[in-house]
Amino acid sequence: MNIIHRRYCRSGRWQHHLDDLLPWATDGIPLNGARVLELGSGPGLTTDWLVTRVGTLTALEFDAQDAATLAARRPDVTVVHADATEMPLPEASFDVVVCFTMLHHLPSERSQDQLFTEARRVLVPGGVFAGSDSKWGPLFALAHVRDTMTLIGPERLPQRLNAAGLVEVQVDARPRALRFRAQRP
Ligand SMILES: C[S@@+](CC[C@H](N)C(=O)[O-])C[C@H]1O[C@@H](n2cnc3c(N)ncnc32)[C@H](O)[C@@H]1O
Repeated sequence: MNIIHRRYCRSGRWQHHLDDLLPWATDGIPLNGARVLELGSGPGLTTDWLVTRVGTLTALEFDAQDAATLAARRPDVTVVHADATEMPLPEASFDVVVCFTMLHHLPSERSQDQLFTEARRVLVPGGVFAGSDSKWGPLFALAHVRDTMTLIGPERLPQRLNAAGLVEVQVDARPRALRFRAQRP
């Protein structure tokens, strides 16, 4: 991520945005008591919100420094430094997998599809994969100058999640964001 983006993801303004985004993105998701895996936790503002609402929380983050800082700051979370498209985690080990505002950071649709397949693999049968991502806007584009921005198209997302072996797909959107949920059969 570029420097503007890194700072923004740690800011009070982002925290304020998450206070509104996360209840919407997780509405109806069975977090309570669940074994939850968060993909792309970054500095961990989303992790802080999740950890009080789940049974156990594992956060998987690609950036080594973010992963190390979060591990030191949150001993109550299992932090894994890894790539979400190739997770060093056993099959069927989580009830819920979530990701917030991270899918557009993957370099291609192909890598996003690999992440979807991996999310299905690590879920128990009946487990839920859910999350949210940003929609295009001028400020959003500015924050991604010289940064990866593989936007998720809400229209094709259901068929892509189905292709990864997930079912019961729901996708909906509001002005700045989309959310999705799907199940491992
Ligand atoms: C914009 S930040 C969002 C952080 C947090 N989810 C939030 O909403 O505040 C996106 C994060 O996804 C991480 N990320 C990008 N590609 C990844 C991958 N392949 N595997 C795991 N994490 C990844 C980035 O390193 C970054 O920390």
